[in-house]
Amino acid sequence: MEWGMANRMAQLIQSDGHALFLPVDHGYFQGPTRKLEEPRKTIEPLLPYADALFITRGVLRSSVDPDNSKPIILRVSGGTSVVGKDLANEGITTSMEEAIRLNVAAVGISVFVGSDYEKESLLNLSKLVNEGERYGIPVMAVTAVGKELEKRDARYLGLACRIAAELGARVVKTYWCEEFDRVTRGCPVPVVMAGGPRVETTLEVFEFVYDGIQKGAIGVNLGRNIWQNEFPVAMIKGMQAVIHKKANPEQAQEIYDTEKGKQAKK
Ligand code: 5RP
Repeated sequence: MEWGMANRMAQLIQSDGHALFLPVDHGYFQGPTRKLEEPRKTIEPLLPYADALFITRGVLRSSVDPDNSKPIILRVSGGTSVVGKDLANEGITTSMEEAIRLNVAAVGISVFVGSDYEKESLLNLSKLVNEGERYGIPVMAVTAVGKELEKRDARYLGLACRIAAELGARVVKTYWCEEFDRVTRGCPVPVVMAGGPRVETTLEVFEFVYDGIQKGAIGVNLGRNIWQNEFPVAMIKGMQAVIHKKANPEQAQEIYDTEKGKQAKK
């Protein structure tokens, strides 16, 4: 691996082999979604605990200070919205030149396997990988399901992850699912897990992240279940313990409860 590519991968994946990416890119198709209405306010308290931010160029420029940043994974696909016809009909929105100018550690793009725009999104990924490899910039492929959350099973996610890796993604983001080891076993590049819409309890989040890591994920790219929580800093501290300190779900929950107590008193 060339030095630049290796250096960027090392910025993303920490020396313990694990990673906590914090995605705050949701506005690119959801607009001012809940708790991300004012991105700077959401991002700033969480930044010290994240290994990288997944973000669009607009929010990066407006809401993250260049002298106090973490490695950036630049979201470079889009062009659709929640009120439009089809979320899968994305294109590449941001050039590689811009990614270089913004000094990013990686770029990220969604692929929509099985959708009407499967081919377009996979060819967009391939094009981005061709450009990224030229400049030593890794591509993270996001195996997106749009509104079809029920697609999240091992067979579908395993297929989507493997295809993304075959086309040259250096990291693949997918969802946790039952039999998650089938997904990681079939994917020859590092896998990170998203959280999806908020789940009922914090313990559930710690449980699936813990399980996913035991089954081969290197960490998370997990947003709403952190920053839509009433105590986001407590949540990310619990998450950090699972990812980097080998905490089990109960220990993570304890960290969350303790931090929540401290923050509630402030
Ligand atoms: C949406 C994304 C997010 O980065 C990804 O879904 C992770 O976020 P969450 O944990 O909130 O699902 O690709 O644009």
